[in-house]
Amino acid sequence: MPSRLSKKARSILKRDRKVLLTTTRVPYPFIASRGEGDFAYDIDGNKFIDFTSFIAVYNFGIGSPASVRSAISKQAGKLMHSAFYDFNAQEPVEYAEKLLTMFPKSFGRMFFSNSGTEANEAALKFSRLFTKRQYTLAFYGAFHGRTLGSLGLTASRVVQHERFGPFNSVIHVPYAYCYRCPFGKEYPSCGIACADYIKKNALSKDVSPREVSAIFIEPMQGEGGYIAPPKEFVKEIRKIATENGILLVSDEVQAGYMRTGKFLAMDNFGVEADIYTMAKASGGGLPLGITVTRSSLGDIPEGAHSNTFGGNLASIAGASAVLDYVKKNMSMLTKASDEKSRFIMKRLDEMKERYEILGDVRGLGMMIGIELVTDKESKTPAATQRDEVLKHCYSKGLLLLPAGVSSIRIIPPLTVSRPSLEKGLDILEEAIKATNARTK
Ligand SMILES: Cc1ncc(COP(=O)(O)O)c(C=O)c1O
Repeated sequence: MPSRLSKKARSILKRDRKVLLTTTRVPYPFIASRGEGDFAYDIDGNKFIDFTSFIAVYNFGIGSPASVRSAISKQAGKLMHSAFYDFNAQEPVEYAEKLLTMFPKSFGRMFFSNSGTEANEAALKFSRLFTKRQYTLAFYGAFHGRTLGSLGLTASRVVQHERFGPFNSVIHVPYAYCYRCPFGKEYPSCGIACADYIKKNALSKDVSPREVSAIFIEPMQGEGGYIAPPKEFVKEIRKIATENGILLVSDEVQAGYMRTGKFLAMDNFGVEADIYTMAKASGGGLPLGITVTRSSLGDIPEGAHSNTFGGNLASIAGASAVLDYVKKNMSMLTKASDEKSRFIMKRLDEMKERYEILGDVRGLGMMIGIELVTDKESKTPAATQRDEVLKHCYSKGLLLLPAGVSSIRIIPPLTVSRPSLEKGLDILEEAIKATNARTK
C-alpha cells in the first residue's frame, strides 16, 4: 500500500494544483490509473478495494462489465457525436424505448444531457413549463447539483451557495433526518412532524401552494450525509404534492440505478414521482444525464430546451449495454444487494456497539452510510475523526468517500465479492478502532 508516493505521483499532485480549479478532493492523495471488478489501482500500481464505485458510477464493477466497455469501443469506432438534438439517430431512440420499460407504464418521454446537475436543470425547467408555476420546494441537506438552477435546490453545505445567490425561487424545508431530528422528536412517535411542517409553514406562510411547480426529493439523501428517511415521510410528501397539483421530482442521480436494491430508489417507498432524474451509473462510466417525465405532462415547446452532446452515441452505447446487463442479471443483483446489504449493516451495527465515535448506521440496499460523532451522548459531529478514518483506510488499501459533515459512504459495486467485502470492513473497523482510541 502507498507508504509513500512516487516522484511521478507527487509531481502530478503539484501540477494539478497549478492548472486546475477544483475544491472537492478527498483528504488522501489517490491518483486513479485503472480499475477492474472490486479493485482500483493508483498510478504507482497500488491496489485498493473500492467502496466508492467512483461516486456511485460503477455500480456493477469498477471499470464496468466487459460488455459495456466493448460496446463503447465499438461505437467509438463508428461515430461518437451525432448532434442528436439537431439531427436524428437510431441508437438514442432505441435506448429510450428500452429504458422506459424500467419505469411505471405512465412514463413515456425523456431528455438526455450529460450530468446529474443538467438532468435536474431540465426537470426544473420542465416543471415550470408543465405547471406554469414558478416556485420550487427542496430539502435541507439536499444535493441536486452545482449549476445555478439546481444549485438553488441544493442546501447541503453553505460553501456551495456562498457568493452565488440569491436563489429566491426555492423554499427549503427539513428532511426526515431522524438521527438529528430538527424538531427534537423521535421516530415513529413524531407523527412525521417534518412533513406536517411543510403544510403548516412552507405552504401556508412562505408561498402559495398554487405557485409551487415541484418538490425535488432525493429518496435517500446522498451528499447531505447518506440519510435514509422513513417510508411514511416520502409517502406524505407524495400526498402533499398530489393534493396541491405540485409535481414530485425524484432525484435518482445517486440513489437510483439499483444502488438501493431497486432500479428506482423511489420504488422502496411504494410511491411514484412525476419526473425522475438519473445520471452517475446510467452511462456505464461515460457522462449521461436523463430526465424522464410522465406522459400526461405532455411535450415541451419547440426550442425551449436542448443541448449539444445529449444523446452522445458513445454514452448511449455504454448506457444501452449497462441496461442490458441489469435486465439480464436483475434477480442476481437484487438478491446480492439484499444479502450484502444485510451483511454490511450487521457488521456496522456491531461496530456501533463497540465504538463511541460511531454514532449512526443507516442505509437502503447497497447505499449505506455511517456518521461519526465525538460521543454518542452529545452527538457532536466528528469531522476531523472522519477524515482520519478515511486516511487510515487509504493507507491500508481501502477507498472510501465522505458525505455530509462527518459521515462516510459505503458504496462498493453491487458485484463486490465476499472476501473483498470482509477485508474492506476489517480495514474500516481497524481505522475506527484506532481513531476511537485517540478520541477518548
Ligand atoms: C442526488 C444528486 N443529484 C445531482 C448530483 C449532481 O450530479 P453531477 O455531479 O453529475 O452534476 C449529484 C452528484 O453527486 C447527486 O448526488
